[in-house]
Amino acid sequence: MIAVAIDGPAGAGKSTIAKTIAKELAYIYVDTGALYRATALNALQNDIAPSEEEKITAMLKNTCIELRFIDGVQRVFLNGKDVSESIRTSEVSMTASKIAALPIVRSFLLDLQRDIAKKNNVLMDGRDIGTVVLPNAQVKIFLTASAECRAKRRYHDYLEAGNTSESYETILQDILQRDYQDSHRAVAPLKQADDAIMVDTSDDTLKESVEKIIAIIQGKI
Ligand code: DC
Repeated sequence: MIAVAIDGPAGAGKSTIAKTIAKELAYIYVDTGALYRATALNALQNDIAPSEEEKITAMLKNTCIELRFIDGVQRVFLNGKDVSESIRTSEVSMTASKIAALPIVRSFLLDLQRDIAKKNNVLMDGRDIGTVVLPNAQVKIFLTASAECRAKRRYHDYLEAGNTSESYETILQDILQRDYQDSHRAVAPLKQADDAIMVDTSDDTLKESVEKIIAIIQGKI
């Protein structure tokens, strides 16, 4: 099996780029952030704060999170219910980033991610794929862009989706806070693997980023 790990901060374009490349190479695109988001949604629905570790541990005992691939498109299920859309709010984003710092949450989701990569050629995106989840991935990319650029893209995505309630400033602050939380946690922090290739998408169009990464993958495989 072939594994391409794509790690990087929020809003660097990982999912858009990885989806496009996965289609072109006929790999499965795995968005691991959705697993942390589903866990966060579960906590929010049960009124549990990310700081309440014991309650989270108990909650996980009754939690079933699954990824299903329908026509190659990932859907995430929480206790049998498709939550693929409801995990995309800024409240869930921030809670996911906080809850992802808990070792119990990370180990709960680890095998699920590894199992998918055992059975499929994958392009897997996240924060710790090249460092922890798939350290033997044949290709590792660290995808990044300036915080301002990432916030601008998010802002335009929201506007396009008809969401005018989030200001650019709020989005930028959320991105900076998540960057800090994701890269300063003790377990599996966001960081570039020693053998990962860094791609900065700040000045690139989607097409240019996709071409750069496909060239890297083809050079390695
Ligand atoms: O990729 P995303 O923005 O959907 O991820 C949401 C949060 O989940 C992110 O802020 C940190 C966490 N996460 C993680 O810790 N490890 C991963 N492999 C993927 C996401």
